[in-house]
Amino acid sequence: MCGIIGILGVEAVALPMVDSLKLMEYRGYDSAGVATLEDGKLVRRRAEGKLKNLDARLAMQPLYGTSGIGHTRWATHGKATEAAAHPHATDEVAGVHNGIIENCKSLREGLEADGHTFESETDTEVGVKMVQRELDRGLSPIDAVAAVIPQLRGVYAFEFLFAEDENLLVGVQMGAPLAIGFSDDGEKVSLGSDVVALAPHASKIMYLEQGDIAVVRRTGVTVLNDGKIVSRLTQKIDPEAAKADKGPYRWFMAKEINEQPVVLQKTLSAYVDLMSGTIKPIALDFEKIKKVYILACGTSMFAALIAKHWIERDAKVTTIVEIASEFHKSDAPLEAGDLAVFISQSGETGDTLASLRFAKAAGLQIVSILNVLTSTMARESDIVLPMHVGPEIAVASTKAFMGALMVLACLAFAFAKAKSVLEDEAALVVELTSVPGLVAQVLLLDPQIEAFGRELSKFKNAFYLGRGTNYALALEGALKLKEISYIHAEGQAAGEVKHGSIALIDEHMPSVVIAPSDRWFEKTISNLQEVQARGSPIFLITDETGKGEVSVPTIATLVLPEVSGITAVFVYAAALQLIAYHAAVATGTDVDQPRNLAKSVTVQ
Ligand code: AGP
Repeated sequence: MCGIIGILGVEAVALPMVDSLKLMEYRGYDSAGVATLEDGKLVRRRAEGKLKNLDARLAMQPLYGTSGIGHTRWATHGKATEAAAHPHATDEVAGVHNGIIENCKSLREGLEADGHTFESETDTEVGVKMVQRELDRGLSPIDAVAAVIPQLRGVYAFEFLFAEDENLLVGVQMGAPLAIGFSDDGEKVSLGSDVVALAPHASKIMYLEQGDIAVVRRTGVTVLNDGKIVSRLTQKIDPEAAKADKGPYRWFMAKEINEQPVVLQKTLSAYVDLMSGTIKPIALDFEKIKKVYILACGTSMFAALIAKHWIERDAKVTTIVEIASEFHKSDAPLEAGDLAVFISQSGETGDTLASLRFAKAAGLQIVSILNVLTSTMARESDIVLPMHVGPEIAVASTKAFMGALMVLACLAFAFAKAKSVLEDEAALVVELTSVPGLVAQVLLLDPQIEAFGRELSKFKNAFYLGRGTNYALALEGALKLKEISYIHAEGQAAGEVKHGSIALIDEHMPSVVIAPSDRWFEKTISNLQEVQARGSPIFLITDETGKGEVSVPTIATLVLPEVSGITAVFVYAAALQLIAYHAAVATGTDVDQPRNLAKSVTVQ
């Protein structure tokens, strides 16, 4: 949700911290700020909006301190203003924070009763003032933080800088990610949300665990948990994990869409033995599994809806897909030994992580399909199935969605194989290995897809209609469009529209109809005719066979390669990604960092 960084160095740290914050902008970009120690005083520079505004502020009013903390924000409490920007500070302590303090209201009331005043509505400022109150009671900085933490409820990470000690950062990991970076020359130690933030300053990394309080000094680090000193593993940083640049593309999203044919081959080779043309086994106790739950959010949840079809068809096991934010507070009658699958690009999504812990507590087998393998979910899963698609920076998830689908298909096949019910494994493997090439064919249709997207961008609303796996694609296509172009879009089960939503149909409500010539085609075209008859402008996505069957006029018809089964999902998903991308470019929005969003939503 937010990105936090702290550095103890030998040179000025303000600009190196801003470099880290820029690499973490995908976590949130409503406002940003840094604080350093200058001649024993805490000095801050903060700015509303994107990091470039903080850059400008620092250019006019530079900071020279060699100890500092910094933050880029996705607003959870209070508006995205400069006053709400972190770091929050008193004369003696400054703090930055990622996550939520759920009981901040009552804590704030207690502080106000003790005479403290506030400049913002943020929960972060409450945390900082709590530490100040302990300093006022005579506690040392470390003891002050240790006294405050048990009073805070929620999932968060904090970093504190103290005016009295320029060789000290105190970090707290309470469920949100936090790690320590060590430079080769030993001259710099850093504290940040993830490897992307630390890689520019460190060659080794230490991931903190829940409940850890890190006492960070240039001369060394001590980690406390529950009052006792604990040791945490230090490992080398994978340079790949921190690398992300746009290459020849204007937007990360364009790069990541176009990378798909290549990265999907990498995913494929991790789960399919390409020499023998067989599905590799997955080390799960499949015999025990009577039900499968798949939990995720947003785009990842739509991948789950598609996987349900594959697992039930091939492994013949009831598969339940739930929105993660609904699942972890549900009364689902979970059976130990059943399988819970979690899908998450970031591995830090708060609702999905809460669902993982809920299922783990019930004794289910925990499998996570992730892209970030250093994430909290990776550390808490029984088995991690990597997506292998490389860093995904654009907020709109594309290659991670496709990578998840590839893994889910292989999981379904491996499950069926383990139960000896997989039919025609060789044919399925041929289907899977054809996916990267077919996606590449869709990318070659970019000019037609750009025209399609531009036409769609002229509307303020849109329905996306589909049946079966095309319904899940309708949900995904609508989400892609609305989250980057701000055009209101709703994915609908095509057969459901006549039960209510059809009241919204008129010439201002176009329908994007996803209709490969598959087993749902005829019924989907009937639904197309129902909405077209009531004035809906039609945007049809089909293949040559389908195009020949449809006689109604359309605003645009996109003809995709003639495919079926598993491969159709990838082909139509790629087209939907490009449609949304071109609609957003035509609309002029910030394609990679759309308003109000963040790449990793760590709050629940
Ligand atoms: C996808 O385009 C969205 N940005 C969003 O729905 C995302 O899929 C969701 O927040 C889940 O993220 P995760 O895969 O990192 O858990």
